[in-house]
Amino acid sequence: MGKYIEKGGGYSQMSRKILLVNGPNLRLLGRREPEIYGSDTLADIEKLCCECAAGLGFELICFQSDSEGALISRIGEAPLEGIEGIVINPAGYTHTSVALHDALLAAALPAVEVHLSNIFKREDFRHTSITGSACIGVVAGFGKESYTLAIRALTARLS
Ligand code: DQA
Repeated sequence: MGKYIEKGGGYSQMSRKILLVNGPNLRLLGRREPEIYGSDTLADIEKLCCECAAGLGFELICFQSDSEGALISRIGEAPLEGIEGIVINPAGYTHTSVALHDALLAAALPAVEVHLSNIFKREDFRHTSITGSACIGVVAGFGKESYTLAIRALTARLS
């Protein structure tokens, strides 16, 4: 479990931290193509993920951006904050972003890529993941459970 740190005269527990990164258009979940992505909002999924991570002894820090640069910057900061691993749905940048791939390698933290949909059953342009090769594994096609499976896989690797 976590380390104990001195804080304001007493001691409190510092939990182990992992980062959840969601890319472009995922803030629209719930109303974005629900037949593909489901009816849960991003807030619903983040809550589910926080509960899943907490049950495994980890604090989950959630971040979403539509901007490739903001995603890259957030990943770059992660190792400086004691974050031990990353779960990432790069969304459309999965298929296009060498820079996001490089940011994951530069952070040098274990990362798991997730997709709500099975990208291999969809249009040809979704069949290639540029970011996936910078990750320890990829979970796709299980809806919101893709996220909890990814958290379980990542925390098992970290434990
Ligand atoms: C997605 C799949 C991507 O191809 C798409 O661009 C998304 C969502 C998924 O979670 O299924 O935005 O990453």
